[in-house]
Amino acid sequence: MAVLVTGGAGYIGSHMVLELLDAGEAVVVLDNLSTGFVWAVDPRATLVVGDMGDQALVETVMRQHGIDAVIHFAARIVVPDSVADPLGYYLANTVKTRAVMAACVAQGVRHMIFSSTAAVYGTPEVMPVSEEAPTRPESPYGTSKLITEWMLRDAAAAHDLTYVVLRYFNVAGADPKGRTGQSTPNATHLIKVAVQTALGLREKMDVFGTDYPTPDGTCVRDYIHVTDLVRAHLSALAHLRAGGESMVANCGYGHGYSVKEVIDTVRAVTKVSFRADYAPRRPGDAAAVVADATRARTRLGWTPAHDDLTKIVEAAYAWERRLANGPR
Ligand code: UFG
Repeated sequence: MAVLVTGGAGYIGSHMVLELLDAGEAVVVLDNLSTGFVWAVDPRATLVVGDMGDQALVETVMRQHGIDAVIHFAARIVVPDSVADPLGYYLANTVKTRAVMAACVAQGVRHMIFSSTAAVYGTPEVMPVSEEAPTRPESPYGTSKLITEWMLRDAAAAHDLTYVVLRYFNVAGADPKGRTGQSTPNATHLIKVAVQTALGLREKMDVFGTDYPTPDGTCVRDYIHVTDLVRAHLSALAHLRAGGESMVANCGYGHGYSVKEVIDTVRAVTKVSFRADYAPRRPGDAAAVVADATRARTRLGWTPAHDDLTKIVEAAYAWERRLANGPR
């Protein structure tokens, strides 16, 4: 038995591979290396460089390695990019994911865990947002993930397939042992940008919007440590292998921090009072997005261990310093 991790050379995928290996699982990574790195894949895993949209290849990998579950990360993830290139996003996130599902059905692979996003909710009306909230994505990125959720639901109803959809909130941090981290060049995520500014890799950063209806006027997000996030996938895998039913679950901690609070934390951790200018709102940002995280805890038995913004920032900072000197 082995687990197939698509996108296992990327940020979250490479953490998943480590977590699976550490738990004694055999792991096969399928990645086209468009945004991932060979060095990010632990050598204990088998790396297949190829395209997840190539159903014949996916089926061959499944057969050769005795795959019983797929954890599917491979995707494009930048919201403004998806507005500029919607068809590219539907191809990567929807059409190619259909090929992975079809391969599961053809090869009798019975479990799939799918990386979805809080972006499927759009701007939530009720906070914290639960899985029952209406889904109203505001970008092709969110829509491409939502369509795939529906496809998975329908495929599972028709075939011998069970799934867990995990809707990620704001993933940040890095492996506490320093083995991998967020390495994407030109990343736009707040903690990464702030840590890079503290290191002098950027001259300054911007705070996008200070007039939101939040306690300090800046946007509030639910930042989840990448290690806790991948552990939620391990819980999901155990749930499915034990015969648990298909489900959708939010992955967040259930409380949020403002942009100003994050910047203050990065300044405290790095001891650098880097420049952060107040700037206009960034188009498409919701004022506050915080998970109702009850379901993952109660139905998957997920117990987060790193719910601490300082720890998240420390891990991101340690990784960024290491990256500046060459990751491996
Ligand atoms: N921000 C800044 N300055 C920066 C970068 C970000 O002020 O340089 C602010 C943003 O305006 C936002 C907050 O920090 O208010 C968080 O922004 P991120 O870009 O880090 O993350 P998002 O909340 O925009 O996006 C994340 C994921 C998406 C997912 C979305 C769902 O990265 O993939 O959550 O809510 F779709």
